[in-house]
Amino acid sequence: MDTSEVIKIEGLRKSFGSLAVLKDISFSVQRGEVVAVIGPSGSGKSTLLRCVNHLELVEAGSIRISDSVMVKDGVYAHADILRSACLKTGLVFQNFNLFPHFSVLRNITEAQVRVLRRKPAQAKERAMSLLEKMGLVDKAASYPCELSGGQQQRVCIARALALDPEVLFFDEPTSALDPELTGEILKVIRKLAEEKMTMVIVTHEMAFARDVADRALFMDGGRFVEEGGAAELLDNPQQERTKAFLRRFGGQ
Ligand SMILES: Nc1ncnc2c1ncn2[C@@H]1O[C@H](COP(=O)(O)OP(=O)(O)O)[C@@H](O)[C@H]1O
Ligand SMILES: [Mg+2]
Repeated sequence: MDTSEVIKIEGLRKSFGSLAVLKDISFSVQRGEVVAVIGPSGSGKSTLLRCVNHLELVEAGSIRISDSVMVKDGVYAHADILRSACLKTGLVFQNFNLFPHFSVLRNITEAQVRVLRRKPAQAKERAMSLLEKMGLVDKAASYPCELSGGQQQRVCIARALALDPEVLFFDEPTSALDPELTGEILKVIRKLAEEKMTMVIVTHEMAFARDVADRALFMDGGRFVEEGGAAELLDNPQQERTKAFLRRFGGQ
């Protein structure tokens, strides 16, 4: 087993009823690598992230996260292995998903205490250090509704990081934000990339993807159509479908 690959996915298939959404998806992510996933709406990007984070079940294929085999040839591991696989990934959603009735601090400590069984004082210390990193120390006692979208998204990133994932997934982390708030999230992700956090980022921010990602994957119709170095794929796509998609973003 090559554990320099944090994520190894082979032959993944997923349908909703008669709709085949993921059709034979294979890819791997190296430790410290940043991978951008681009593609039109409905191509299966969110479903892929949800399958890897065990929020959806696959029908066929294999998913390994670091040294935990979550599913092999469509057969899921036992609960304790599944749990350890899930603890190795974090997912940041488009629409924040914070608990509205918890303070910012409690949003970040809750899973640390309940899932990782950290002592409350230790969880708080970790949360405060992450809030400091996100420039949000003064918001610890606030509630999500008192924060801007950009601030809420930074809390979500802190919450995910607090569980020490080996790989962090982002599903269009800026698409619910006003353009002026997008920059603050991209800055945080860029900093994580500099720190060599392994990340898979679904995004429509092409300039950002080109700049921050090592590799880019173009997804269409439930398949990866093209894959390459981020700058190479975004500046010089080879496939017609990739070209047509990127033209809509003014990049080509
Ligand atoms: N829970 C679900 N039930 C039925 N169909 C779904 C469900 N989730 C997603 N789909 C369908 O799967 C396809 C891929 O969706 P999605 O993964 O959200 O694509 P993307 O994130 O690339 O926009 C779409 O046709 C969508 O309508
Ligand atoms: Mg999506």
